[in-house]
Amino acid sequence: MGRRIICYSRNRMEETTAKPKILVTGGAGFIGSHLVDHLIEQGYPVIVLDNLYAGRPSYINPVVLKEEHGSRFYQMDIRDHELHRVFDLEKPDYVFHFAGQIDLRLSVLDPIHDIDINIIGGVNLLKNCIYGGVKKIIFASSGGAIYGELPPGVEKFPHNYTQAPVSPYGHSKVVFERHLEYSNDAYGIDYVALRFANVYGPRQETSRECGVISIFVQNFLNKQESIINGDGSYTRDFVYVADCVDSCMRALNTNVNGVYNVSTGIRTSINELFNVIVRVSGNHQEPMYRAVKKGDVAHSSIDYCVTKDVLGWEPQVALEEGVRRIFEWNTDPVRIQNAHDNTVLYTTLSPHQRCRHWLHGSY
Ligand SMILES: NC(=O)c1ccc[n+]([C@@H]2O[C@H](COP(=O)([O-])OP(=O)(O)OC[C@H]3O[C@@H](n4cnc5c(N)ncnc54)[C@H](O)[C@@H]3O)[C@@H](O)[C@H]2O)c1
Repeated sequence: MGRRIICYSRNRMEETTAKPKILVTGGAGFIGSHLVDHLIEQGYPVIVLDNLYAGRPSYINPVVLKEEHGSRFYQMDIRDHELHRVFDLEKPDYVFHFAGQIDLRLSVLDPIHDIDINIIGGVNLLKNCIYGGVKKIIFASSGGAIYGELPPGVEKFPHNYTQAPVSPYGHSKVVFERHLEYSNDAYGIDYVALRFANVYGPRQETSRECGVISIFVQNFLNKQESIINGDGSYTRDFVYVADCVDSCMRALNTNVNGVYNVSTGIRTSINELFNVIVRVSGNHQEPMYRAVKKGDVAHSSIDYCVTKDVLGWEPQVALEEGVRRIFEWNTDPVRIQNAHDNTVLYTTLSPHQRCRHWLHGSY
């Protein structure tokens, strides 16, 4: 994959292959920023588009912030009517769509807000992808939210299991998948929707309830008590963020359309998870139990065998290893120093100013 470019050097015509340009929405967030780091490492020019609602400037790859090798950051909302200007200027070849409202409980409280970002914003982006000639859009869908509750006696959701979301967030994911399918039929734009299970890893926010592993690790490091909703028997399918990035690269480089589960197929109870954290930390703690939260599904696990067959993808990082990496990241002094440096660099010119500069040619 790559555009062929003819360049002149030492009076000789040489042919080189330039990497295609990739736009990542939500590239300052948890999963998106890991993907951007990997793309930059692989030599792709990357455009990050994020409104920084939840993303952090310090998570944006320095190459992007310094605008090196054709990379650039736009602080912008996916609902913005001027989004087409980014496409006009940057002409991305491929788009990863990771920006979104990710809070399941917030979607229950304010479904219109969820629809506004995850459907209206998503379709605004999709429209620009179609008119901008983007070859493929790869979307972060959700296996955990769209399949609903695991029926008794079923160990994991099969690939083609009927979708039965129990939250507006899950419905938004299904609706946007349908838009991708429709746009593929109507306009020929390729797409892959990756249905992630419960993703975990460094940089996951602890202020929202979705990152249970990061929350527990933080509590252990701060010597604070951890709270488990219910009796700890609820199960989840935890997949490590680097494995998700690997699935993204395979979706980019494989000539396929469709929907693929990205999971481990392993059900881990919250009590088991807590014990893993106790083992890795080397500190014993007892969790506190409280009433189960309304709207939480009891069990969730997803089969990835079709993803393995088609994309050649399998999870590589075991839960204990992933938890160990989160502990390491949280206590790494180099990381903390770099985060500080990024923030300093970023604040020399506000993202809004940068965005205005590239869109309008002035600060
Ligand atoms: N984390 C998980 O377990 C998980 C599981 C399944 C699917 N997903 C999906 O993966 C994607 C990334 O999730 P994450 O966990 O990295 O979340 P995150 O909140 O860390 O990242 C989302 C990013 O999108 C940005 N954003 C939010 N609204 C925006 C808007 N209107 N315009 C532009 N940018 C906006 C945020 O600032 C943030 O940087 C989301 O679509 C989420 O639904 C996540």
